[in-house]
Amino acid sequence: MRFTFQNNWFSIVILSIYISLTGALNLTAGDRDSVCEAAKFVVQGELNYYEGIKYGGTVGMFASPNYWWNAGEAFGGLLDYYTFCDNDNKTLKSLIYDGMYHQAGESFNYIPSNQSMVEGNDDQGVWGLAVMEAVERNFTDPEDHSWLSMTQAIFNTMDARWDTEHCGGGLRWQIFTWNSGYDYKNSIANGCLFNIAARLARFTRNESYAKVAEKVWDWMEEVGFLTSEDDELVLHDGAKIGDNCTDVTDKKWSYTYGIFIAGCAYMYNFTEDSIWSERATEIIEASSYFFKDGVMYETTCMPNHCNNDQRSFHSLFARCLGITTVLVPETVSLLEDKLDKSAEAAAQSCSGGDDDITCGEDWTHSGWDGVYGLGEQMCALEAMLATIVREFPVYTKDNGGSSKSNPTAGTNTEDEVNKNVLNISTKDKAGAGVLTAVVLGIVLGGSAWMAI
Ligand SMILES: *[C@@H]1O[C@H](CO)[C@@H](O)[C@H](O)[C@H]1NC(C)=O
Ligand SMILES: *[C@@H]1O[C@H](CO)[C@@H](O)[C@H](O)[C@H]1NC(C)=O
Ligand SMILES: *[C@@H]1O[C@H](CO)[C@@H](O)[C@H](O)[C@H]1NC(C)=O
Ligand SMILES: *[C@@H]1O[C@H](CO)[C@@H](O)[C@H](O)[C@H]1NC(C)=O
Ligand SMILES: *[C@@H]1O[C@H](CO)[C@@H](O)[C@H](O)[C@H]1NC(C)=O
Ligand SMILES: *[C@@H]1O[C@H](CO)[C@@H](O)[C@H](O)[C@H]1NC(C)=O
Ligand SMILES: *[C@@H]1O[C@H](CO)[C@@H](O)[C@H](O)[C@H]1NC(C)=O
Ligand SMILES: *[C@@H]1O[C@H](CO)[C@@H](O)[C@H](O)[C@H]1NC(C)=O
Repeated sequence: MRFTFQNNWFSIVILSIYISLTGALNLTAGDRDSVCEAAKFVVQGELNYYEGIKYGGTVGMFASPNYWWNAGEAFGGLLDYYTFCDNDNKTLKSLIYDGMYHQAGESFNYIPSNQSMVEGNDDQGVWGLAVMEAVERNFTDPEDHSWLSMTQAIFNTMDARWDTEHCGGGLRWQIFTWNSGYDYKNSIANGCLFNIAARLARFTRNESYAKVAEKVWDWMEEVGFLTSEDDELVLHDGAKIGDNCTDVTDKKWSYTYGIFIAGCAYMYNFTEDSIWSERATEIIEASSYFFKDGVMYETTCMPNHCNNDQRSFHSLFARCLGITTVLVPETVSLLEDKLDKSAEAAAQSCSGGDDDITCGEDWTHSGWDGVYGLGEQMCALEAMLATIVREFPVYTKDNGGSSKSNPTAGTNTEDEVNKNVLNISTKDKAGAGVLTAVVLGIVLGGSAWMAI
């Protein structure tokens, strides 16, 4: 065999591609170049699930079994990736912009009528976290409806559903009467409202939003979803309204903890009142439940019993812990090691699949654990980004942010969508009932998923 220059050149390229794709992703936590290089591969894997760039796919949606809410979860992380690592990339920018804008719904409040079979307050809330991320990162505003006005619409429609008739207040899990879980109030739905209210307060400097955040916090304590047991703070899952929310389900989920921690961090950054940094710190300490050997771990369902939703919870957990280190600098000492170790553990798990860089679920496992999906990619991405988030500004309206405010967005009472009275056929309602009954069963039963 005769070697030519071209042959050699070719085999060097193949060899270097082989080397660079074999084994886990290398990551030095906190090092921007290293994180962004690894994150690029994780994003590539994540976008394999994106339907919006496939023929016949829906813009803003990810492949089944991922629900609408998972898309909201994904865009928050993609937006941070774009901001931190790839902000010259016009293709990526339009992918994010189009996807987020397309799912805003007919009334630009993230209640698209064709998701009314599955959308709960927590789903609208998680989209709210992503849309607010666009505000705080100064992502290019749509001309007709700014990201800020759409977050305000999400806030206003959620707050309008605050229900004082049962359990002394709080949001129900579901928005629509026909979805089962409508009779359940839970921490995650209320945590989303708390988080969004705190962020709107900080960004707009409008006290009214902070009042709502306080209202949510106080109610969480009053109803017993947030308790101190043996000096340890616990955030419970929720309770049915039938017995006035007295029979509280105590399953713990990392994203609920994260969303409350970050909410407290925004409140602290806005008010500078140490009560909020103390609350943040207390929940951070309680969230040691979600670490194993210093690495993030969804203790309630791992190993082997997390459903598709639960497998994605670390994405929000990591994002929330990361932003907390920015807004409450004194939490850096509590979180930095955990975030760094988790990110490096996540990176070493990204060594599976056909591409040899697919990320796994259990990061304490040496190498890939054989589990793959959108959730695994999102979690690894956000864990990595959380180690560099302190390098980037979180804008307010007086300090770099330019998204236009419209405090009355979403308050139009003429709007049927806001009144939860969409016209839906009986057949659709029945289908939704079965679906959410299964989902509720999973939330309450945890490991029941595998049996189903
Ligand atoms: C990761 O680091 C190892 C050891 O330094 C190196 O051999 C390997 O090529 C690196 N992998 C990537 C994807 O850069
Ligand atoms: C832009 O981002 C997309 C999605 O992450 C990626 O596939 C593409 O390679 C990027 N383009 C450039 C020029 O980096
Ligand atoms: C649902 O409605 C949105 C507009 O709100 C539309 O873009 C999308 O194609 C519809 N279908 C699905 C499956 O999302
Ligand atoms: C229902 O629960 C709320 C919140 O804990 C409490 O304030 C209210 O008094 C309770 N109502 C009844 C009738 O027990
Ligand atoms: C609020 O957050 C900024 C970063 O956006 C940080 O520099 C500042 O120290 C924080 N304020 C307080 C009181 O910790
Ligand atoms: C935010 O975006 C606006 C509009 O694109 C721009 O004028 C402004 O300079 C940006 N702010 C920062 C801090 O880059
Ligand atoms: C502050 O927020 C409240 C509640 O959304 C709104 O009614 C009020 O107009 C806002 N004030 C300003 C100055 O934007
Ligand atoms: C719902 O149906 C009622 C009665 O058929 C009709 O009057 C109303 O306009 C419909 N609402 C919407 C939002 O289509």
